[in-house]
Amino acid sequence: MNIVSFSAIKGGVGKTTLAFNYGEWLANTGKKVLFIDLDHQCNLSQIYDIYDNEGTVGNIFKDLGKVKLHSVSENISLIAGDMRLDDIERDIENKTNKNMLLYLWLSDNYERLNLEQFDYIILDTHPDFSTATKNALIISNSIISPLTPSEHGYNAKFNLEERIKDLKDEAIDYSTRESYFTANLYYVANMVKHNTKSSRELLEAIKDEDNILAIIPEKEIFNRTTLDKKAVSEFESDQKIYTKHKKFFDEISESFNKITTII
Ligand SMILES: Nc1ncnc2c1ncn2[C@@H]1O[C@H](COP(=O)(O)OP(=O)(O)OP(=O)(O)O)[C@@H](O)[C@H]1O
Ligand SMILES: [Mg+2]
Repeated sequence: MNIVSFSAIKGGVGKTTLAFNYGEWLANTGKKVLFIDLDHQCNLSQIYDIYDNEGTVGNIFKDLGKVKLHSVSENISLIAGDMRLDDIERDIENKTNKNMLLYLWLSDNYERLNLEQFDYIILDTHPDFSTATKNALIISNSIISPLTPSEHGYNAKFNLEERIKDLKDEAIDYSTRESYFTANLYYVANMVKHNTKSSRELLEAIKDEDNILAIIPEKEIFNRTTLDKKAVSEFESDQKIYTKHKKFFDEISESFNKITTII
């Protein structure tokens, strides 16, 4: 099983859009995917029209309680986000094991919920470095962080890296002195435009870095995926749309393929 978090301290950079489309793409290639929506904005859950108040991720943090796995399509299940997760995070602020609750939940429920059936767990997170995000990063094998061409787009990278360094030190198993945090951090340049100064600057800044998984252009059809609740892999089966956007769809497929071989 591969556990992947989409995280960034900056908002609106494409975490949810990329998590959704990548998970759907994996499912389309026959992989079984479990989405966990750790953002109290619940955007990923809303894409699947799930507005539950019961059995949400909130229970993982409240009392290691029961959660519901929604089977949303043949290969995809989802644990719904909780609109009160920010309040719950405040309530557990003084718990010493607050960053390990998802880790504990995963090991306690692995067999009961038959989690080994999933090839991938994909976590979408809130744009911050809160307790829920730390929990996600601690259980992850990989972190994918989108970088966008904007004034502070590239600098967001250093902010995340600093905080990850602190988390790695903080999440120590005192008996072995090893950190529970073992994830590899990768970036995706997202919403890259043709011929704009900020896009050129971002591409220039990342050109020699080896942990850039993909460069995704800004495209209205990609924006539409979350609005229409239809992933790129679904649009592909519509011949008219496919023909019109073939170049972009091929590019996305190639990027997702590359991501899969690296992470
Ligand atoms: N490559 C792209 N081209 C065009 N639009 C995009 C692209 N990537 C994301 N978007 C759009 O940008 C907006 C923000 O994306 P998204 O909601 O995925 O960001 P986010 O990082 O999850 O935001 P938040 O921090 O609020 O959770 C959405 O409207 C989405 O459809
Ligand atoms: Mg989001």
